[in-house]
Amino acid sequence: MPPSRMFDAADIATLAEPLELLRTDRCTLVAPNRIAYQPMEGNDAAPDGSPSPVTVARYLERAAGGAGIDFVEALAVSPEGKARGDQLVLRDATQRGFEWLVKKYRNLNVRTPLVFQLTHSGRFAADPVTPYPLADQAARLLTDADMARIQDELVSATRLAQECGADGIDFKHCHGYLFGALLGPANRARRGWPWGGETLEERARFFRETLGRMIEAVPADRFLYTLRLSAFEGIPGGFGSRDSTSAEEDETGAELKAFARLAEAAGIRLLNQSSGVPELTPLLVRQTNENPLGFFEHQRRARAMKESVHIPVVGSGYSYLKAGNNKLPGKDRAVKSLVHLGAQAIREGGVDLIGIGRQSLADPAFARKLLTGEADRIRWDTSCNQCAVSLRSGIHAGCVTYDRYYTDLFRRATRPI
Ligand SMILES: Cc1cc2nc3c(=O)[nH]c(=O)nc-3n(C[C@H](O)[C@H](O)[C@H](O)COP(=O)(O)O)c2cc1C
Repeated sequence: MPPSRMFDAADIATLAEPLELLRTDRCTLVAPNRIAYQPMEGNDAAPDGSPSPVTVARYLERAAGGAGIDFVEALAVSPEGKARGDQLVLRDATQRGFEWLVKKYRNLNVRTPLVFQLTHSGRFAADPVTPYPLADQAARLLTDADMARIQDELVSATRLAQECGADGIDFKHCHGYLFGALLGPANRARRGWPWGGETLEERARFFRETLGRMIEAVPADRFLYTLRLSAFEGIPGGFGSRDSTSAEEDETGAELKAFARLAEAAGIRLLNQSSGVPELTPLLVRQTNENPLGFFEHQRRARAMKESVHIPVVGSGYSYLKAGNNKLPGKDRAVKSLVHLGAQAIREGGVDLIGIGRQSLADPAFARKLLTGEADRIRWDTSCNQCAVSLRSGIHAGCVTYDRYYTDLFRRATRPI
């Protein structure tokens, strides 16, 4: 059967190509195709932060979807690090639940590398904390003792991830949460603060030291270390800004490229580009009909990263493209579809894998359907963003458009009183 009547066979073949992610004497890790399922928080943990039956059901659907690499959503490394009440937490007390999740996943899928994303929510935690004083928000200044504790928690979560059967961890440096916030030029104002400074090297000290300790605990010859970065946050002094007070992008990408190189040198083996801070600059993170051209900004930043390193780069922003029914310039849907622009970006060396976020919620079987001749049956993302609204409203987040469970929850939560 032809791979698809909707898309060019050469494009499908590009997306179906495997990619080696790690090869050492101890371990070989291969992405079976070029479609990365992005980390997508479901806010549906059990009260102690373990995966609940709803969480496990979500990941079993993803497992059956056959992605090239599957990033498990942001796992807080402590209850204090959560941004949302029902966020998952990876710590000793929840280890059994994550072991169970991986075991069930592996019963369905032994090929897709599974990578746990680790985070601390910083200024977006329930009790907000920050490395430097914020102009627009009250948050407690982090102390050295806090940083030492968070570092220990990250190392411990890395060990737990490996014991649970994950193939790697993603060190979350995107979307305005704590670790990305350390990197931005605003993190230089605090006198005597050892985790910031004028230079990027100083601001990356926490990253470097922590990754070094993670790798000591779980060597990088048997475990994949990845990093997701907001290449430009769009907030004053955020990463990618011109200076410590500006919210304008430094279009030379000097610190972006320098950080990508620094991350590779420190042991990161895959970079995942994102942009923006969902709570403050959501249009930089996700495209809708309001900001279709943001897709090209994602592409430009991913390319800047890719040109700086020798490790694979995942691109973001693809869900909005759909089967070509988007507001990008041009009338020919085939040439502006997710499939064509994704395959083209890979062929041209702009990215190595295409990351899909909302599309993985709309249809967790997306990769399998696309690559096995069932593209006509794909449920395409509508970019309605109600999954993001669900997350912000504190209810379980999933596809409100196609999944009855989430449609009903969303209706109940947003019903006028
Ligand atoms: C409901 C929801 C949950 C998300 N959870 C995470 C997360 O846990 N970690 C992360 O790095 N990004 C998260 N994101 C961002 C997505 O991974 C992705 O970058 C964004 O949706 C844009 O990609 P898309 O256009 O393919 O959806 C989330 C986005 C949404 C809408």
